[in-house]
Amino acid sequence: MPSEHLRSARWFEGDDEVALLHRVAMTSVGAEVDRAADRPVIGIAHSASDLNPCNLPLGELTEAVREGVLAAGGIPVVFPTLSLGEDLMKPSAMLYRNLLAIEVEEALRSYPIDGAVLLANCDKTVPASVMGAISADLPSIVVTGGTRQPAVFQGRRIGTGTDLWRITEDRRAGLVDDEAWAELERSLTCGLGACNTMGTAATMAIVTEALGLSLPGTSTIPAGTPERRAAAREAGSRAVELVAEQLRPSVLLTAESFANAVRVLHALGGSSNAVIHLTAMAGRAGVHLELDDFARLGKDVPVLVDVEPSGTALIPDLHDSGGLPAVLAEIAGLLDLSSKTVGGDIASIVASAPAAGPVIRPMAEPLKEAGAFAVLRGSLAPDGAVVRTSTASPGLFLHEGPAVVFDGYDDMRRRIDEPNPHLSEQSVLVLRGCGPVGGPGMPEWGMIPIPAVLAKQGVRDMVRVTDARMSGTSYGTVVLHVAPEAAVGGPLALVLDGDPIRVDVEGGTVELLVDEDELTRRRAGWSPPRWPELRGWVALYRKCVTQAPAGCDLDFLEAPTPAHRVVVEPVVGRS
Ligand code: FES
Repeated sequence: MPSEHLRSARWFEGDDEVALLHRVAMTSVGAEVDRAADRPVIGIAHSASDLNPCNLPLGELTEAVREGVLAAGGIPVVFPTLSLGEDLMKPSAMLYRNLLAIEVEEALRSYPIDGAVLLANCDKTVPASVMGAISADLPSIVVTGGTRQPAVFQGRRIGTGTDLWRITEDRRAGLVDDEAWAELERSLTCGLGACNTMGTAATMAIVTEALGLSLPGTSTIPAGTPERRAAAREAGSRAVELVAEQLRPSVLLTAESFANAVRVLHALGGSSNAVIHLTAMAGRAGVHLELDDFARLGKDVPVLVDVEPSGTALIPDLHDSGGLPAVLAEIAGLLDLSSKTVGGDIASIVASAPAAGPVIRPMAEPLKEAGAFAVLRGSLAPDGAVVRTSTASPGLFLHEGPAVVFDGYDDMRRRIDEPNPHLSEQSVLVLRGCGPVGGPGMPEWGMIPIPAVLAKQGVRDMVRVTDARMSGTSYGTVVLHVAPEAAVGGPLALVLDGDPIRVDVEGGTVELLVDEDELTRRRAGWSPPRWPELRGWVALYRKCVTQAPAGCDLDFLEAPTPAHRVVVEPVVGRS
């Protein structure tokens, strides 16, 4: 490729002091710019951090990517990004997803970079990196870090997250003593990498591959393996070729590729959080993806992947069963096969897919019929809500019961086990004030614990309704992402203890059975929460974040039309 076609040439070509300074800056870090060789500069962004065990393996993978870039004739430049650590970052890493997306976009835009390799892992760094890459629209490839090895507890292999929640419910029921609880802690300290169930991290890694932004078959490779290092090296080399081919996100990401990704999400029995992230990613790409599209596209896609929490196996088992290519082959008849990816079109991936192993069920014998999600609307969620049906109890799909209401996380933790005259197995637990504005950042508080008195009676699922999200490793009959959220005056704010709530998952409704006059009276007495005077990111976030059905992006970052995708190139002069 002639150097004048390389974006980075604008920094390095010429004999004036500006170009000289730019070349000196690169040479000083060992990235020699050879003006005659037309070598593209590949930015290698990574979020490795000691604060984030899921992302720490990305550190060693950057070296493999660097080798791959060099082998293909590119110039690698490694730079760190904000690390969104799901475990330790409060109130939720989701509060910072859009901040990382801005960081990635602006780093790619403002530096002399021709193409990018984005190393990300865990729930938010993957969608954030993809959102940033879409908005920057440079040829980009995503390398995920892989899942950690399974833990062993009491002689049994357990998955990250899902089994912890199950054992926690048992402990609340008095079935797990202190010794076993301590053993659980030791067993869960089992290495680095993402959660190894079909949580949000694995879901987003696989969905990103389905969208076409990762090399085929790589999203399920376990962390810390030679196979993952080889995949990272290959991605580095491929990034150099992507620049020559100018295979940008705007070329790869179409309405059809997003429809493919949504269908894959259903086949996976994937995380409910992917509904929000895919919507936000589509918005950045100028593709309109609505809540109802998730229900529509899932109607003819059964859940095929038998991985926790929808099923029983773990992500390494899915990899051994053929990974995403084998899943794509199974649902090929439902996909747009002409959609392009960084590793060829979907048709070619399907053609060379391995035979599916036992964790991937055939269409004729699915794990669950007809889709992993239901979209509900009604007087309690006029703009919509989501139920992950693949992890819910069919016996609760049609349910009516009195509300037991909690205002925020602290109130819920304080009162969940207190006596309440409305509390029984039939109750509908309501948690509000936890949406994008209220949380802020829509934390994963939606899997409200079963009250201890009921847990001790053997109750393990109840209907819950919330404007929060829940972890992708969670399960239960939880009506999530209720919109509008309570903090902006959604009907959830008006519910009182004892109000009857009716949920009909198959009918797609969630209703507050209180007459309209009474609701009007309550609405007149409602006032928005009073926040302390905020500064910085949180102030901006609260002001500009969109509701869950729109993807929780910041309103000024969405790209509703292709025209908004134009990247504003910087003026390259003295800084
Ligand atoms: Fe990071 Fe699950 S907490 S992947």
